[in-house]
Amino acid sequence: MYHHIKQLMYDVHVGEPDVRFGTMLLEQFGGANGELAAAMQYTIQGWSCDDPERKDLLLDIGTEEISHLEVVGALIRMHLKPMKKNLSRAEEDPIVAVTGGGGLNLFNSVGNPWTASYLKIAGELDVDLRNNIAAEARAKITYERLIHLTDDQGSKDALQFLMTREITHMKAFSAALDSLGKDPFSIGQLAPTPGLVNEYYNDSTGEGAIGKDGLGSWIGQNGLHVVEWPKNLETNGNGTNGHNKNGGGLRTTKTAKTGAR
Ligand SMILES: [Fe+2]
Repeated sequence: MYHHIKQLMYDVHVGEPDVRFGTMLLEQFGGANGELAAAMQYTIQGWSCDDPERKDLLLDIGTEEISHLEVVGALIRMHLKPMKKNLSRAEEDPIVAVTGGGGLNLFNSVGNPWTASYLKIAGELDVDLRNNIAAEARAKITYERLIHLTDDQGSKDALQFLMTREITHMKAFSAALDSLGKDPFSIGQLAPTPGLVNEYYNDSTGEGAIGKDGLGSWIGQNGLHVVEWPKNLETNGNGTNGHNKNGGGLRTTKTAKTGAR
């Protein structure tokens, strides 16, 4: 059951409305990393979750995201207000002005309608918690960019609040993931193929105008080791690429793999 309280989670104040900034804010209303996407992702995951404690976490945060949506919506309405009666302001974004009447609608900042394809719901708790940590990181960086795009202090304050809560949620999702006590590379039920799982292929080599080959110092961690050439690929002897006759992977030669390290 859901219940609405007639109070914003964060009081919003806008000095000088900025229609163009208002349309940018729509990215956090009806965009891929916006509040509705977060609310739906966590809530639907929560409804599907069989683990009582993590289910409650997902529903807690999913519900808070709806409150964030309401705050972003209030901020957008204040910025778009001049669009309702002023032609030159309306001309700054005719889709928002004409289709949405200068109010809220489920579009992103460039007028694309919200879609459920934004949601990452895997139906596997640890995978979904990782999806959510990534979603919070994307939302955080989007808020940060929006903060840099306005001089209005009231807008900055509201966005700072929302940005901060994304990190809070990241912490909670990360703690919930850790609490599962799973090996971080143990995903699902089936084990990966021994040996193959630890082979790191140096597949971008050579040196040219756009860069040079290099291997990070982190290669070697998590059991990985560098393999110059995948054993399961055939060569055709002339340096060209193609599909091998057994229907396997890409066929090329070792000569194409030389390069500075
Ligand atoms: Fe949020």
